[in-house]
Amino acid sequence: MYKGSLTTIEDLSNGQVEDILDLAQEIDGNRDAFHGLASRHLMASLFLEPSTRTRGSFEAAMKRLGGDTVTVADPKSSSMEKGESLADTIRVWSGYSDLIVLRHPWEGAARLAAQYSDVPVINAGDGSHEHPTQTLLDLYTLRKELGTLTGRKIVLCGDLLNGRTIHSLIYALLRFSADIIYAPGEGLELPDHVLHKIEAEYNRPLQRVRHPGLEALYGGDTDESGAEVDAIYMTPSQPHSLTLIDSIQMEIEIDKEESFAFYVTRKQVEREGTAGDGPGKRYPRMDAKVLKETGFSKAVIMHPLPRVDELSPAIDSDPRSKYFEQARNGVPVRMALIALMLGLKPWKHGPEGGGQARGELPVPKTRGIVWLNQNCISRIEPLNATAEFTFFDRPGERFVCCYCERETFPAFYAYPYGEVYHPIEERPSRPMDPSRGTFFFDEASARASNFRPSKKMADGVQGNV
Ligand code: NCD
Repeated sequence: MYKGSLTTIEDLSNGQVEDILDLAQEIDGNRDAFHGLASRHLMASLFLEPSTRTRGSFEAAMKRLGGDTVTVADPKSSSMEKGESLADTIRVWSGYSDLIVLRHPWEGAARLAAQYSDVPVINAGDGSHEHPTQTLLDLYTLRKELGTLTGRKIVLCGDLLNGRTIHSLIYALLRFSADIIYAPGEGLELPDHVLHKIEAEYNRPLQRVRHPGLEALYGGDTDESGAEVDAIYMTPSQPHSLTLIDSIQMEIEIDKEESFAFYVTRKQVEREGTAGDGPGKRYPRMDAKVLKETGFSKAVIMHPLPRVDELSPAIDSDPRSKYFEQARNGVPVRMALIALMLGLKPWKHGPEGGGQARGELPVPKTRGIVWLNQNCISRIEPLNATAEFTFFDRPGERFVCCYCERETFPAFYAYPYGEVYHPIEERPSRPMDPSRGTFFFDEASARASNFRPSKKMADGVQGNV
C-alpha cells in the first residue's frame, strides 16, 4: 500500500483483496460479532464532492464496528473555501482522527493526502481517476453471484471515459483473469491512458470483436445482423499491438445459459470532456426489452448507482437485478477494510500476495515536465505535489504522472550537464531514457529551468522530421 493508504486498487495485492472479501463475508454472516471492534477509533469522513452511498456506507460501517465518525461533507463550510490547501486540511485531520476517508474532485488527491497524513487514507473517489472501495464491493458482489471471476465475462457499459468505478474495476478484473467486454457510449470509450496501461502493465491484448447480442443495449434489434456493435474483448491469449485493433473483426458469443455480468454506468455529466454528451449519441441502456430479447437467463445486472435513465426501474424486481444488493454489500466490505487498515484484524497476505501490487514501479522516473491535466492535483497544488513521471517505452514512448496516472508526451529534452534544449524528434537514440538524467519538458518549463534553445532552433532550422 502507498504509505499504508488505499489510493488506487493497485495498492492492494490479490491476496490482500481476498483478505478483504473473506473478512467481509464473515462479517456479512455474523455482523453483531464485530460490534465493538473499533470502539476506540475515530474516522474522519471528508467528502468534498457529492456522495450518498459511499459516505453513508463508510459511516454505517464504522458505526457497525462500534467506532465513531466526524464528517465534513460540504466544502463550502470548510476552510478550503478560504483557500486552504488539501495538504494542510489533511495534516490537520490526521491529528484529529485514526483514519481519513476522502472524496475529492481532483485526480490524484488521495495520493497527496496519503503523503501528508499520519494516519491511513482511503480514496473514496478522486475525480475521474479511481474509486477502489467501489471496486472491492463490486468484486465481492461478482464473486458472490458468479462464484468465481476467472474466465467470467463482464460487460462494462456506459461512460468508460470518465467513470472512475470503471477504471478501478478494469484493473482488478484483469488481475483476477476475468474477460472484459466493452460497450461504451458513443464518444465515451476508454481513455488512451487506461488502454495503454492495460497493454503495458497488464499485458492483456485487446481485440475488436462483434457481438450481435449486445446491439439490444443500444436499442437495436438482435434479429438483425448486429453489425454495428463492436466491443473490445480482453483475453489472456496472444499479445498484439493496440494499433491493430481496428482491423480485427471477430465475433464472440455469450451463451444464453452462461453466468456473466452487465455492469451499467451513468453518463458522468459533471466531468469535463463528456464528448458523448449530446443528442443522437448512442448510449447503452438496460431495460426489460434488452433482458427479454437477449434471453440471458443467468445474467447479473450491476450498477454502482446513482442511476439516471440508463437502467430502467421496470427491471428492479427481476431476480437478475443485483444493484441494490451490491450497494448493501458496501457496508460489510467497508467494515472489513476499516478493520484491516486499522490493524484491528490481521492481514493474511502481504503486498507480495500476487497480482499487481504497485509499490514503487521498477522503471525510471523523471521530473521537470509541465503537466497539462487541469484536474491533476499536481497542477492545482504544485507546491505540495511535485509530479514525478514514470517512463514507458510501450506501446509508444510516454510519461505517466504519479498522481493522476494520465500520460504526457513532452516536446523537448535536455541533458542536465548541458545548457541547451532540443526538440524531441532530434533525440539521438531510442528509447528515451530518463534514468540517465535527461530532462523532458515543454518549452516554457525548459526556459524556466534556464535552458536555452539549441543553436539549430535559435537559427530557425527545424528538426529533421
Ligand atoms: C459512483 C461514483 O461516485 O463514482 N457512485 C458511487 O460511489 N456509488 C458512480 C457514479 O457517480 O456514477
